[in-house]
Amino acid sequence: MEFPVINLEKLNGEERASTMAKIKDACENWGFFELLDHGIEPEFLDTVERMTKGHYRKCMEQRFKEMMAGKGLENVQTEIKDLDWESTFYLRHLPESNIAQVPDLDDEYRKVMKEFAAKLEKLAEELLDLLCENLGLEKGYLKKAFYGSRGPTFGTKVSNYPPCPKPDLIKGLRAHTDAGGIILLFQDDKVSGLQLLKDGQWIDVPPMRHSIVINLGDQLEVITNGKYKSVEHRVVAQTDGTRMSIASFYNPGSDALIYPAPALVEKAAEQKKLVYPKFVFEDYMKLYAGLKFQAKEPRFEAMKAVESNVNLGPIATA
Ligand SMILES: [Fe+2]
Repeated sequence: MEFPVINLEKLNGEERASTMAKIKDACENWGFFELLDHGIEPEFLDTVERMTKGHYRKCMEQRFKEMMAGKGLENVQTEIKDLDWESTFYLRHLPESNIAQVPDLDDEYRKVMKEFAAKLEKLAEELLDLLCENLGLEKGYLKKAFYGSRGPTFGTKVSNYPPCPKPDLIKGLRAHTDAGGIILLFQDDKVSGLQLLKDGQWIDVPPMRHSIVINLGDQLEVITNGKYKSVEHRVVAQTDGTRMSIASFYNPGSDALIYPAPALVEKAAEQKKLVYPKFVFEDYMKLYAGLKFQAKEPRFEAMKAVESNVNLGPIATA
């Protein structure tokens, strides 16, 4: 049971079929995989890492220490369930960028993160088409499914997980599945901590220099009618070393209508009692905001309840 590592460059050669099969297996059985030779230059990733770590030390570290010190967590004896040991900020790229308004970033860092986002957006769309190919969906299906009226929502959560005095009692990030579409993570190559739940066991996502870790969110589970599943993951804080994690979320547009691809719903009988609901993405996100750290199934059920209400009468469109 090896964590799936995929060399994307091999798609261009005679190992294309076996590489596609590896991606398929990873999507069906792991919900996660790690990409090497993904086309984003190693030197560029080094720049992103250097600037992100520099920004953390300069603008975030002290603030985090003071905030946590104020909570008196040094001597906790029982598990803390309402807090993550992480220092974060968010950048939004699509439908429009907020990078110019995010405080404390210098011009060079803004420029680099903008460029990074453009490269990741391209990679995300390439990956969606590889998934389409493996699923037997027409090229562009997933991109279109995410598009809504204004294109996808794309953003980046920049996190650092500082050393934690009680990693057994305070998680870096509590277990959850991701709500969105496809997630691209550039993580620290030295300080580990990310784990996924597979067959009831927590498995480390191995740190690997210049790799991009991919995982699938709840929306891909719905659209694939459960062929692919979003998988629970968490971050275990470490007692030494600060872990950098830059996670970019390629998600549906807020008004995109999400539902199982008809081609993946096999029988008419299955059509009648679909496991997965049909909903507008932003309604799902409203629900997720309060239930992130709970199981996904009740979220799907709640969306089904909304769906049956919506279908009762004509919908006002004015
Ligand atoms: Fe996540």
